[in-house]
Amino acid sequence: MSPEQRIDLRSDTVTQPTPSMRRAMAGAEVGDDVYGEDPTVRRLEERAAELLGFAAALFVPSGTMGNQIAIRLLARRGEEVIVDERSHIYNFEMAAMADLSGAMARPVPSRRGFPSSADIEKALRPDLYYMPRTALITWENTHNLAGGTVASSESTRAMLAVAHRLQIPVHLDGARIFNASAALGVEAAKLTDGFTSVMTCLSKGLGAPVGSVLASDVERIAEARRIRKRFGGGMRQAGVLAAAGLVAFDETIDRLGQDHDRARRLAEGLGELKGLRTRPEEVQTNILMLEVTEDGWDAPRLVQALGAEGVLALPMDSRIVRMVTHYGITDAGVERTLQIASKLLG
Ligand SMILES: Cc1ncc(COP(=O)(O)O)c(C=O)c1O
Repeated sequence: MSPEQRIDLRSDTVTQPTPSMRRAMAGAEVGDDVYGEDPTVRRLEERAAELLGFAAALFVPSGTMGNQIAIRLLARRGEEVIVDERSHIYNFEMAAMADLSGAMARPVPSRRGFPSSADIEKALRPDLYYMPRTALITWENTHNLAGGTVASSESTRAMLAVAHRLQIPVHLDGARIFNASAALGVEAAKLTDGFTSVMTCLSKGLGAPVGSVLASDVERIAEARRIRKRFGGGMRQAGVLAAAGLVAFDETIDRLGQDHDRARRLAEGLGELKGLRTRPEEVQTNILMLEVTEDGWDAPRLVQALGAEGVLALPMDSRIVRMVTHYGITDAGVERTLQIASKLLG
């Protein structure tokens, strides 16, 4: 089966650049960005700062690097960083905060990805000389492992109130903040208000091939630029990549709602099949966690059987399968997925 015929629901990172992205990349005006001479990168950084509601932004190769630069910027060696226990920073970034910044993660549990302000407050260290200091709180919106959940404004406000009262900086892993914005019908800059720094990814639901941005105030972004170089993320004619990011901002933010509708439709259809459990009412954005309840099936087996029919998904453990919609998934792709799943389980 050719890659074009496959229905690839593994992640929203699998998208191919759109024709307009490819055109913009081919025609991008570029320069050496380590010398600050790439006009397309400058434009992307300005646009990102504006969309996220900050004074400055920095183009970085990946979401992981953006998060880790923020941690390096805001925490010192031997200090603690509060993370949700299912967060990307804690689970999928290779313990980079320990390796690159000498910081220690302090995981806090949550039901839907957003620890309560009371639980966060309990995890903060008292000011005692024989305990580590809490340097930073992190927050992930939307939350990947929790199933694309969107933080309510109440939970974000309550967490920020604690952080501001105790003067602890807060970094937002907003890899999919534009999905949260589309789901709530609220501008991204409103959802980032009160955070010290925000990372967002161009290469997930927005569909660009490479890159993320880190936004904060002017002084912190100047320091972040130095850290990016130290981490090996200084890029040269990076405008060819930034050009696709600019198109992503212009053309793909407004269509994210369609991905959410399709994820919900998948959840509804799959949930009707014997042996699968979904909670369509909890599918808020483009990520769907599917529970395999049928004896004789498990998540890896289901993923393998779907894959043999050209539908790709990701097993998360023995029972949970993740499916993610993106602009490469059409209504027809959703219906085809439902037909194939129904044939396998029916
Ligand atoms: C919530 C979240 N944060 C950060 C990242 C890291 O992005 P990257 O893969 O570009 O390093 C991801 C990637 O899936 C993610 O889902």
